[in-house]
Amino acid sequence: MNIKNICVTLVAFIGLTNANAQYNPLKIPDTLSGTVFNLTVRDTFKQFLPGNQTITAGVNGDFWGPTLIFNQGDTVHINLQSELNDSTTMHWHGMHLPAVMDGGPHQVIPPGTLWQPYWKIDNKATTFWYHPHLHHHTEEQLSLGAGGMIIVRDAEEAALPLPRTYGVDDLPLALTSRKFDAFNAIDYTSSHYGDTMLVNGTLNPQVTLPKQFVRLRILNAEMERGYNLGFSDNRTFWVIGNDGGLLNAPVALTRVPIMVGERVEILVDLGADAIGSNVNLMAYNAGHPLGFPGAEPGTTGPFGSLLNNRNFNILNIVVGATTTGAITSLPATLVTNIYPTAADATLTRNLLVTDGTPGTAFRFDNTDFDLDNINHHVVKGTTEMWTVKNNNIFGHSFHIHDVQFKIVSRSSGAIAAYESGWKDSYYLKIGETVSFVAKFEDYADPLHPFMYHCHFAPHEDGGMMGQFTVEDPSQVPTIGSKGATFTLYPNPASTRLFFSFDDPSAKAYYVTVSNAIGRTLLMLPRPELKNGIDISNFPPGMYVVQLIDEKTKGTVTRKFVKE
Ligand code: C2O
Ligand code: CU
Ligand code: CU
Repeated sequence: MNIKNICVTLVAFIGLTNANAQYNPLKIPDTLSGTVFNLTVRDTFKQFLPGNQTITAGVNGDFWGPTLIFNQGDTVHINLQSELNDSTTMHWHGMHLPAVMDGGPHQVIPPGTLWQPYWKIDNKATTFWYHPHLHHHTEEQLSLGAGGMIIVRDAEEAALPLPRTYGVDDLPLALTSRKFDAFNAIDYTSSHYGDTMLVNGTLNPQVTLPKQFVRLRILNAEMERGYNLGFSDNRTFWVIGNDGGLLNAPVALTRVPIMVGERVEILVDLGADAIGSNVNLMAYNAGHPLGFPGAEPGTTGPFGSLLNNRNFNILNIVVGATTTGAITSLPATLVTNIYPTAADATLTRNLLVTDGTPGTAFRFDNTDFDLDNINHHVVKGTTEMWTVKNNNIFGHSFHIHDVQFKIVSRSSGAIAAYESGWKDSYYLKIGETVSFVAKFEDYADPLHPFMYHCHFAPHEDGGMMGQFTVEDPSQVPTIGSKGATFTLYPNPASTRLFFSFDDPSAKAYYVTVSNAIGRTLLMLPRPELKNGIDISNFPPGMYVVQLIDEKTKGTVTRKFVKE
């Protein structure tokens, strides 16, 4: 028996003698921080279950990627290399950024391509996430595990006495369920609801948390299932933040619902728990009315699941020793938010959920989603009210890109304190009309739209999506106008390729580089070209550079030879 086998035997023995042997240690995703983020998304595999490995898609790993830590005020540069066999996109859910960097269904990244978006972080401290958004394929790629969380930090949050030691008293929890077939493959076609709960990609997870206040950053990363969260002993916890930032003050609750795409930050007090005791974070999903996703009674069929209409365990928490610097009291107040009100809106848009009868997919306003059709044109600088009316066949999770909004009315009654903060997604129940107000402050771009959609992956993939551009009426490109002319040098080139514009004030809106057979290698939204672009890894050959000019949006192509 070699050393490795002895260790394996020892681990197995300890595992068997552990009273909680049915649990797996919760995976805490690694963090990436700084201003340059290297992400590779690829087809890979993971040993989820005994027997066959499971084919997955991972970002820098096997299922569910690293947590990206951004600081407000920084400009972050992402190097997203796709090694998937299919095209993909990568969307920064909830973030305020130019549409061309947003990673929606228009920013398609072909296999083998490097996409380099960058933007200045101006969101408030909170929890976001990133995930593929390829039209018709979001459910497939997200089911396989491509995605991860984002934590934004800012000075206001940093000054508050809140838990913020990542992985110790401040934990990301990505909630999602999966169905595995007889060969251990992830089955995302026979049902939109999984049979087995996963947290951060861990089956039956357990975590030891210190005897003090702990902060859980909870994301519903499901395809469709909603969660009604609570603790097994019905203890009170406090919601401190919504999708887009901290609330004005903690909100005490024993249950909180969270729909697909939404995030909720909660504080839980473990200070009175005995060391070694257990409490479970639970889904109280039994007994909800029709329209609550996952309330369906069936265990089979397209909306069947072993977890449907049941209360089930999400995470087993074991109480451990108090840490130094522990947070032991609840802050009375958090931040001072200034929210827009209904009276601030100078324009109202009405959206209607339509279709969705048996055999038809849900849509908005009886209109098929079409990548080439802009459904709404928003004028930059406008504060708008969007009113979304359900057609009462099912519930939905309404999400909009670009902005954080404030819910100003729910036809079913008052707006609960737990969702009184900045939101980018919300639960649109059966029977409801919900209005929110948002200001579309900047990032005008007549070419690239932002999306709004139901975040239930099957609804989104099925076409329950629309798009809007933010436009600046003083900067309308003349359709058909010529792009900026330029020369590439040196040509042939070996390491860096430089651009010389005939008009020195010209700027690039988008540059793509493809090889002689048309395969895209580089996608550069609004590149800074002054230092040239790195072509040192390109194989020798002929390449085509396509440049869309910022001012006119005209396209010019040039060829170069890599030696
Ligand atoms: Cu979470 Cu349109 O995205
Ligand atoms: Cu989004
Ligand atoms: Cu929906």
